[in-house]
Amino acid sequence: MIVCVCNAIREADVRQAARNGASCPASAYASVGRRARCGQCFPFARQVIASERPTA
Ligand code: FES
Repeated sequence: MIVCVCNAIREADVRQAARNGASCPASAYASVGRRARCGQCFPFARQVIASERPTA
């Protein structure tokens, strides 16, 4: 599934970035060499990142 339409970033890319330490959509996108644009994807991207975060 595509998370970010502007950059064609897939959910799997965001999950991988989150596991590698990205804590927000902007840093997740930067890790795959992209930049956030319209921001419409942020709520979903945040959800994906949060779901990869270990529960403490
Ligand atoms: S859909 Fe991600 S920045 Fe536009």
